[in-house]
Amino acid sequence: MKTDNFVILAALFLVLMGAAIGFAWDATRDTTRAAALYLDQCASCHGSALEGQSGWRQAVFDSRSAAPPLNGTGHASLHSDDMLLRTMMRKAWPGVGHTGPDLGAKYPDGEFEDLLAWIKTHWPKRELSYQQNLTEWAEERTGPR
Ligand code: HEC
Repeated sequence: MKTDNFVILAALFLVLMGAAIGFAWDATRDTTRAAALYLDQCASCHGSALEGQSGWRQAVFDSRSAAPPLNGTGHASLHSDDMLLRTMMRKAWPGVGHTGPDLGAKYPDGEFEDLLAWIKTHWPKRELSYQQNLTEWAEERTGPR
């Protein structure tokens, strides 16, 4: 009986360690890849510190002229995950694309999800929780798309 307990505990320990290592490894890999993708494809317009281009506030009615910040000080947190991902992949809806490069077909969807998660690591808590609520609300209304 005692040996059985030990075997169960040892197995549990190994599973937990594996999960912890796997999680840490995954987080590092995704973050590095997302940061590299951002520098390659987005920083030229949205800024290397995600600060956006000067004059983006004046460009609200002509948003194509200046890229807004993605660091939580702009209006990205006023859009759901679905909307942000569609913008990044240029799948917003016909005629309303994204001034950025057409990357939707170049990278798998998962890479955009990692990129959005990395972008959000730059947001303050308030923007994060607001946008999370908005995303949940949008998903409840329309279902995952
Ligand atoms: C050539 C310049 C340019 C590049 C490169 C670019 N963007 Fe943009 N981006 C813009 C402009 C301008 C807008 C504002 C209006 C629009 O075009 O949708 C924008 C809007 C956005 C928005 C919506 C933000 C909001 O506040 O509504 C997101 C998210 C975004 N870009 C992410 C990205 C990501 C991620 C990349 C890299 C994969 C990227 N952009 C590359 C110019 C660019």
